Amino acid sequence: MTPQDASAFSREICSLAPVIPVLVVDEVAQAEPMAEALVAGGLPVLEVTLRTPVALDVIRAMAKVKGGVVGAGTLLTPDDVRNAKEAGAKFGVSPGITPTLVEACEAHDLPLLGGVATVGEAMAMLERGYDVCKFFPAEANGGAPALKAFAGPLPQMHFCPTGGVSMDNVNDYLSLPNVLCCGGSWVAKPDLAKAGKWGEIEERARAASQLKRG
Ligand code: 3PG
Repeated sequence: MTPQDASAFSREICSLAPVIPVLVVDEVAQAEPMAEALVAGGLPVLEVTLRTPVALDVIRAMAKVKGGVVGAGTLLTPDDVRNAKEAGAKFGVSPGITPTLVEACEAHDLPLLGGVATVGEAMAMLERGYDVCKFFPAEANGGAPALKAFAGPLPQMHFCPTGGVSMDNVNDYLSLPNVLCCGGSWVAKPDLAKAGKWGEIEERARAASQLKRG
């Protein structure tokens, strides 16, 4: 997959909803009800982090939920990329970028939303042909003001800020012209899933899905 095709896919999924829920799922049994609640609430794009032993099985289960577009987060290595693709992930998200990881995503046809934290890293992705990236960790790296400043020299680069984003600050990001959507774990926190509060997760998803983009 070319960087241009990966970027086009990233733009497409980022246009489907203003928020991509970042999911840390501990039990496969939570996968289906969680995905159904999020999709019903208006958030079809789901990022399952590869941070639990069952994450790949969770991706397999969520990929069967109608209306969802399931990706794998926390991609660190080529093995992660291969496993995510085999499990049915439609896209990948990484906290940072390395040439090895970017090449693996291209080789395995997995569109990558690669994490960058600095203008130099964003320039490296632009050089390679990517014009959509994750901005991570967003709040710790200067938040919306930093991203606003990125737009001066790099107006062609667009972002999905993630890390420290919540309902309290999400509008600061979504109002920026270089932000396509935001990622965050607040919509479906593990404690809500553990308690089986699918209705609350759906409500949180609905609130997030109704956010306006600038
Ligand atoms: C993460 O690292 O888990 C994601 O970036 C989400 O961050 P958040 O929990 O601050 O939303």
